[in-house]
Amino acid sequence: PDLYAVIGNPIHHSKSPIIHMEFARQTHQDIQYNAILAPLEGFAATVSAFQQKGGKGLNVTLPFKQEAYTLSIRLTDRANAAQAVNTLKFDQNHPILGDNTDGAGLIRDIEVNQEIPIAGKSILLMGAGGAARGVILPLLERKPRLLAIANRTQTKAQLLQAQFSSHGQIVSGHFQDFSGESFDIIINATSASLQDKLPPLPTGLFKETTLAYDMMYSRNLTPFLIFAQQQGAHHLADGIGMLVEQAAESFYVWRGIRPETRKIIEMLKNNR
Ligand code: ATR
Repeated sequence: PDLYAVIGNPIHHSKSPIIHMEFARQTHQDIQYNAILAPLEGFAATVSAFQQKGGKGLNVTLPFKQEAYTLSIRLTDRANAAQAVNTLKFDQNHPILGDNTDGAGLIRDIEVNQEIPIAGKSILLMGAGGAARGVILPLLERKPRLLAIANRTQTKAQLLQAQFSSHGQIVSGHFQDFSGESFDIIINATSASLQDKLPPLPTGLFKETTLAYDMMYSRNLTPFLIFAQQQGAHHLADGIGMLVEQAAESFYVWRGIRPETRKIIEMLKNNR
């Protein structure tokens, strides 16, 4: 079989092997997909050893996405914009290709699975770290009316606004700056949910029809989704769909085949 893996630290919790082995079964691809724990100081060496073994591709997760970006010899436009790589592809006769499928995964989950077209919508993106940066260009390519970026540290949101403003209408600020406004789609790209915390959101941002989207997921509703629900939002989504869709996009980058995702999303949601 052709060899693939996800590489990160920690890695034991990763659902990627289950997802990709299911994709392989479904599309009749002869692949093996494992999880690799890389030492914090040994990412490049671990990648190189995998490549020496004949490995065809890697998914890269925390905390190595920036390092994978630096390591890539060629980059796709979307990886370049994200300044982060979650998918590496090794070809015998080509140098390492770095791609980033996170944004495409988010878009597909919102538009296809949640059935919310992004064109013409107002979006509030919370956070200005790597996770937020990675989805800005893909979001803007779907032509929203407005993209607002809110972050605890305002200067980081301003930098993202400056970097991407040639691609669409962007505003930025503190969370409180958006008090009194409401949005069609509100996305949590902060790492607050990981610490079981809620970003300092003003009340009144949500309408009944607002899609509240947390890029994180956990066994129970995240603090952000609980808040959104209390604020009257009916449409809640966590990051399981995005996880599966970014995996499907990586699978497509490697194998040229697009797997079906709905069943595995349902399965993961039911087996939290
Ligand atoms: P990631 O790659 O997951 O985006 P990161 O680059 O460290 O990780 O960024 C974390 C993001 O979550 C930042 O936007 C951070 O806000 P600051 O830039 O002000 O640090 C945000 N964040 C983390 N914990 C948060 C909290 N408790 N409330 C609000 N924002 C938080």
